[in-house]
Amino acid sequence: MRENILVTGGTGALGRHVVDRLAAAGHPARVLSRTRGPHIGDLRTGAGLGPALDGAGTVVHLASDPRDSSADVEGTRRLVTAAPAGTYLVYVSIVGVDRHPLPYYRRKYEAERIVEDSGLPYTILRATQFHNLVLLALETLAKAPVLFVPAGTSLQPVEIEEVAERLVELALGDPAGRVPDLGGPEIVSFAGLARTYLRLTGRRRPVVPLLLPGRVAAAFRRGAHLAPDHPDGRGTFADFVAATSGRSGDGTRAR
Ligand SMILES: NC(=O)c1ccc[n+]([C@@H]2O[C@H](COP(=O)([O-])OP(=O)(O)OC[C@H]3O[C@@H](n4cnc5c(N)ncnc54)[C@H](OP(=O)(O)O)[C@@H]3O)[C@@H](O)[C@H]2O)c1
Repeated sequence: MRENILVTGGTGALGRHVVDRLAAAGHPARVLSRTRGPHIGDLRTGAGLGPALDGAGTVVHLASDPRDSSADVEGTRRLVTAAPAGTYLVYVSIVGVDRHPLPYYRRKYEAERIVEDSGLPYTILRATQFHNLVLLALETLAKAPVLFVPAGTSLQPVEIEEVAERLVELALGDPAGRVPDLGGPEIVSFAGLARTYLRLTGRRRPVVPLLLPGRVAAAFRRGAHLAPDHPDGRGTFADFVAATSGRSGDGTRAR
């Protein structure tokens, strides 16, 4: 176990849970952020990395920007180059990045290989899509009078707190290379998730599957992003939506 932990992306949706759990376990972490806190830095330029890494024995690397390739690929390269020899790196990735053409996933895969080739001790955990991301997608799609979903596509969403829990365990343990994927407890069609969302939030919309063209949509239909052998998460999407919207699992108001 290495004292002094730096969490990149510690201000993000996942990172906040990781930082809270590390603190609760007696390991208050420093957080690298572009705008907040004492460790201001930017992976796109390398600014602030040196001071943030100073004396850090472990880096939990969660920072990512799907809209900016330089954050994930060049940013990870900058991080591993700036990290002193022996720094333990824990990297979070996404299930299926090695077999999926989505450009963001390709970049996550490249970042994985940068971590693997860095010469630093490392652990890489791949997780499936988080419940909150799926909910956000459905909230956006439900703004239209008809809720269109990608046909033939399933997801295996996982509870973000469980991903954080696993990452903390890994960060406080020994470097383990690529560890088993962490997938949500069930694989559910996009349409099924949409119906759950509508039911639990009291909305009414027709759910209409649309066959989307292209390699990326085909990869999602093929299930390249799923971890059927690792349905290890416990919380379901229905649990998550019910907790978020104050309704119980069967759609009635929670008391
Ligand atoms: N969302 C999912 O379904 C999912 C599934 C599997 C794996 N993951 C992975 O989990 C990680 C966290 O995802 P998330 O959903 O929690 O992300 P998020 O909420 O979007 O947070 C992104 C974080 O990255 C930081 N960041 C972005 N660009 C940066 C830069 N140039 N320099 C320094 N920090 C930067 C942001 O910090 P500031 O804004 O404070 O600078 C923020 O803390 C990502 O690596 C993602 O690939 C996500």
